[in-house]
Amino acid sequence: MQPPVPIDLADHRRALAGKTLPQLFAGDPKRFDHLSFAWDDWLVDVSKERLTRETLMLLVAHARDAGLEGWIAALFAGEKLNQSEGRPALHTALRQQDDTPLMVDGHDIVPDIRSVQARMKALAAQIRGGVRVGATGRPIRAVVNIGIGGSDLGPLLVCTALGSPPRMRGSAGPQTEGVDVAFVSNVDPEHLTRALAPLDPATTLFVVTSKTFTTGETLANAASAKAWLASALGRGVDVGAHFVAVTANASAATSFGIAKADVLPLWDWIGGRYSLWSAAGLPIVLKLGWDRFADLVAGGASVDQHFRTTSLERNLPVVLGIAGWWNATQLKHCERVVVPYSQALARLPAYLQQLVLESNGKRVARDGRALAGPTTAALWGETGTNGQHAFFQWLHQGTREAPVEFIVPIRATHPLADQQSLLVANALAQSQALMEGRGEDALRAEFLAKGLTGPALDAAVAARVCPGNRASTTILMPEVNALRLGQLIALYEHRTFVEAVLYGLNPFDQFGVELGKTLMAPIAAALTSDAALPEATDGSTRGLVAHVRAQAARLRS
Ligand code: F6P
Repeated sequence: MQPPVPIDLADHRRALAGKTLPQLFAGDPKRFDHLSFAWDDWLVDVSKERLTRETLMLLVAHARDAGLEGWIAALFAGEKLNQSEGRPALHTALRQQDDTPLMVDGHDIVPDIRSVQARMKALAAQIRGGVRVGATGRPIRAVVNIGIGGSDLGPLLVCTALGSPPRMRGSAGPQTEGVDVAFVSNVDPEHLTRALAPLDPATTLFVVTSKTFTTGETLANAASAKAWLASALGRGVDVGAHFVAVTANASAATSFGIAKADVLPLWDWIGGRYSLWSAAGLPIVLKLGWDRFADLVAGGASVDQHFRTTSLERNLPVVLGIAGWWNATQLKHCERVVVPYSQALARLPAYLQQLVLESNGKRVARDGRALAGPTTAALWGETGTNGQHAFFQWLHQGTREAPVEFIVPIRATHPLADQQSLLVANALAQSQALMEGRGEDALRAEFLAKGLTGPALDAAVAARVCPGNRASTTILMPEVNALRLGQLIALYEHRTFVEAVLYGLNPFDQFGVELGKTLMAPIAAALTSDAALPEATDGSTRGLVAHVRAQAARLRS
């Protein structure tokens, strides 16, 4: 059941509705102090959200009534919170820094985790050190991760954020450490083809990452990779040496031709979108080395510690989660926009889309009953300052409001420090502009002084007014390195969990993605052969299939 919204919270929302953000600041000179929260060199500022100290107090009380503290304890204890699939969600166990036993169905999983971590480390050392050779005896120099969704987005985010750009083939001389890692997810053959173009089959290794080892896109790309190797290295050559698998379905991986010793396990208690901390993080270790992966994991663990031990009032994932719940369910925002002011975090919005929307894009409670209110807002975004020259116009002057999350690393990891100040200044100016807007009076005075009058004056002023009073959160982080990125990701994981508890849903399943996969198979058969579509196929789908078939035939001839 969804935790009922207390009457006083609903009353409070109505009372607050008449006040603008600038008025809230005017009414509380210490508003920033009251509504910004520091932890370990991080600062989360929700003072530009449409809420007050009292709102937060009421929201924390609501979270307590919903049993949030108990849910947090249950998450870390490995209780089966993924009820629909009868499993725990133990991504936090992968970040545990000591060997305290953690039981799942009477079995301590910590030794299993340590053993897989040791295998990841050893395998990565072999590959990075040039010890692992391909079928022709030449050392592996490049890696392609084949996977999609959680088997792609997390490792891709981390490698993009922390890795240097791939070296041009032949430009770096002999490589003694590290390998270039490319990511292929889309079943669009263009993705694989482009990734393979600069690579030498004799020195390329594929990591096939798939929890289920049944995902259509991944299996199609893995089969094409195998064919590419076979045609380059000779049909008789065993290309198994060019593959490693990360999966919970070891038998499917070995049937594909991957040696048992090259299959790293995933467990059913790790959700795909929470799996970058597991063996699915192998591409991270290959690109960045074990120590930086360990730093990433330690960063996640430090947020775990904060989340499970800090009072709800000062707990960053809780503050972010209750503010997100408030925006989505009480203020009825349908969208939230994430803008990392960091080119390194370019893949963060895509990563968060899966994390947030696969987790909380649900319409029923844990017991299957329909939820009374809305659940998560849709999430989208782009890096700043690039987004400023695209969708910020909509944010400032469009007819809808979508709260923005500014994620701003303070310190540059490069020597162009002046430019970093410009970047940070842009982020702060945008959140200020969204809240304060640009009023009519000052604009009118400005254009009158320039000699404009009558309808021309009115039009010039109207076009430039920014209504302001638009909400945002600012997250200041020290810099983007492995530890801080681990903290950022864990912060958003736990924030998403907090929202799920308040919505009253299970964030760890994703049955909504199944239907499209099922319907795809007969359509693919109809497009690749003359197979008839199932009787019940609707008119639009029939028409589209017929058009594609006819056009494809015409373009072939
Ligand atoms: O998109 C649905 C999904 O099931 C995700 O939850 C998952 O991360 C992705 O597909 C890939 O699944 P797998 O790792 O099993 O190939």
